[in-house]
Amino acid sequence: MTPPTVADCLDTAAARLKAAGIDDPRRETRLLLAHALGVDQAAIIGHPERPVADCDAFLELVGRRTRGVPMAHILGRREFWSLEFRVTPDTLDPRPDSETVVEAALAAVSGRRGAAISVLDLGAGTGCLLLAVLSELPAAHGVAVDISPAAVAVARGNAIKLGLGQRAHFFAGDWGSALAGGFDLVLANPPYVPRGEIAGLQTEVAQHEPRLALDGGEDGLDAYRRLAGELPRLLRAGGTAAIEVGYGQWEAVAALFRAAGLGLGNPAFDLAGVARCIICHGSHAD
Ligand SMILES: C[S@@+](CC[C@H](N)C(=O)[O-])C[C@H]1O[C@@H](n2cnc3c(N)ncnc32)[C@H](O)[C@@H]1O
Repeated sequence: MTPPTVADCLDTAAARLKAAGIDDPRRETRLLLAHALGVDQAAIIGHPERPVADCDAFLELVGRRTRGVPMAHILGRREFWSLEFRVTPDTLDPRPDSETVVEAALAAVSGRRGAAISVLDLGAGTGCLLLAVLSELPAAHGVAVDISPAAVAVARGNAIKLGLGQRAHFFAGDWGSALAGGFDLVLANPPYVPRGEIAGLQTEVAQHEPRLALDGGEDGLDAYRRLAGELPRLLRAGGTAAIEVGYGQWEAVAALFRAAGLGLGNPAFDLAGVARCIICHGSHAD
């Protein structure tokens, strides 16, 4: 029997993804086929007539996707800030919205790009926030903490692959409790989904992303309460924190941080116009 062509496989798979409610089935189909064949997308687009010997293996990947497994888990990677990160079920799949935190952090230190700035990332996941910032600040160095040792191992591997292993150090811990402080820049994207809303999220989030990366307690603000208690110590005087917040949370988090004595900057907005990042400044002497 003649094997199906690239075009046949793409048509079959795109129809299945569309039926499963996937937003951009053609794009995802191309990514999955390129992954299955070990080629880049240009080879898929440029050679629709190419026979595909093992279409079944490809359709198995498509089946995982229709059952809600995130693309980043199937491909094992995600691009963030134009860098490639390994992603596993132990790490949050980095979101484009979180690039708002990177932009805001870089803007805060724009006058000191070549300086030996110290950076702390609380809740490292893949390490995407710290590593994106370090990729733009050649003399900066940083540490990142995550409560999940498995996430820490992934983040460490990402740092090495990106050539940043000498400047980025990762360890397992509970927020900043093991750290003395004095950081120039603190980054965080804490879990902020109210617990009762997790089950109602898309399958790929609710069932496949780590609970530790999502669960923000009853009202979604538990981690911010912890950070409000720790940031005044962790930030050096004049240092800046850029912290991601969920939709509609900016005011509540601002109130927590203000009550902790932190100075607040203007919100940073994501591409959808959502106040996505809270900026605050340390005032305590080192
Ligand atoms: C929303 S994810 C963010 C991951 C990554 N920074 C990103 O932006 O993709 C939150 C991370 O915080 C970590 N986390 C949850 N509770 C923590 C705690 N008590 N101390 C340190 N990290 C914690 C989770 O394991 C998870 O990796």
